[in-house]
Amino acid sequence: MRVIGFVGSPRKDGNSAALVRQALAGASAAGAETTIFYLNDMNIRGCQACMSCKGEGRRCRQADGMQELYDEITAADGIVIGSPVYMGYVSGQTKIFLDRLYAFYNPDLSSKLPKGKKAALVVSQGYSDGNAYSRAFEAVEHTLKTLGMEVPDRLVAAGIPDVTKHEELMKKAYEIGKKLVK
Ligand SMILES: Cc1cc2nc3c(=O)[nH]c(=O)nc-3n(C[C@H](O)[C@H](O)[C@H](O)COP(=O)(O)O)c2cc1C
Repeated sequence: MRVIGFVGSPRKDGNSAALVRQALAGASAAGAETTIFYLNDMNIRGCQACMSCKGEGRRCRQADGMQELYDEITAADGIVIGSPVYMGYVSGQTKIFLDRLYAFYNPDLSSKLPKGKKAALVVSQGYSDGNAYSRAFEAVEHTLKTLGMEVPDRLVAAGIPDVTKHEELMKKAYEIGKKLVK
């Protein structure tokens, strides 16, 4: 089993990064190999809408950091995406990454990915109302589902300055990671 995590915050010592690391610790305890990717450090450009991924060869032709991630996602059994809320949605780093997953759709918009992958979104926001951005999170999860992934869980840290001090949320992140392995 292989579970990989993506951090969409530029803050490696921030909440999203802590939650992804904690979910991966849970996955690791359940027997998975894990790797974390910090999207802000990777050279990932926005989708250029060239449609190469829909043509002959069916691959994205942008030679950037996403090429490694395409292979990683194809091979993974579980995926954790951690992001802060920026202006009511996931961060730009996360959005660019999500846009690039467009390469995983066939021309008829069916998914090229093998079925059976599980994914989870772990997010952090300043606003204390954890339901305020539900629609945004649902939109991200809908995208993952259309790619053939199951998305059983979500974690929202709302108005929590340092999530590592929040025992309940850290426990939940750990359990989410464990469940990605089953
Ligand atoms: C550019 C920017 C935009 C933000 N927009 C929102 C927002 O729309 N709603 C909100 O609740 N918090 C917003 N925040 C606060 C972050 O979501 C919050 O500080 C979050 O916990 C940061 O996560 P991190 O520790 O993983 O970086 C924003 C922060 C930044 C820097």
